[in-house]
Amino acid sequence: MNPQPATPLAAVLMGSKSDWDTMKHASATLARFGIPHECRVLSAHRTPAETAQYVSTAEERGIEVMIAAAGGAAHLAGVTAAHTVLPVLGVPIESASLKGLDSLLSTVQMPGGIPVGTLAIGKPGAINAALLAVAILGVKRPELRDKLRAFRREQAQKILAETLE
Ligand code: RP5
Repeated sequence: MNPQPATPLAAVLMGSKSDWDTMKHASATLARFGIPHECRVLSAHRTPAETAQYVSTAEERGIEVMIAAAGGAAHLAGVTAAHTVLPVLGVPIESASLKGLDSLLSTVQMPGGIPVGTLAIGKPGAINAALLAVAILGVKRPELRDKLRAFRREQAQKILAETLE
């Protein structure tokens, strides 16, 4: 018999399948740390009811942190944060027209009261959102903090081993 999949602790939401090329880096980073997570395409403006339903039931399903990514003025992270008190990390997707400046502003400029922890535009933001999610989950899980320390040591060793021609 196959083992039951672990209950997801994190959710990675994105407004369109076209965002996956960026958000697969968040998923890969969570996987590297062994974080069970689910990835979903849900749009604040194209599927507003389903988005609200998914987000508002996330806490009772065991999710502890949510990452939400969208491009343009789609505002998925803010809408996600409106429906949950779980921490929401926003990733602005690099848009074609404004290179993600529109996404950045629509994600980061939340009026006071409903916070979205906003990361950088694009792939670095996707990776850092996952690392921050690991740190949030690590507050109560020392083994995750150990993994983060090991990750940083590995990163430092790579830099220190660099040679220039
Ligand atoms: C947003 O609109 C999505 O997050 C995506 O970044 C952007 C463009 O979506 P598609 O037209 O590629 O589906 O809702």
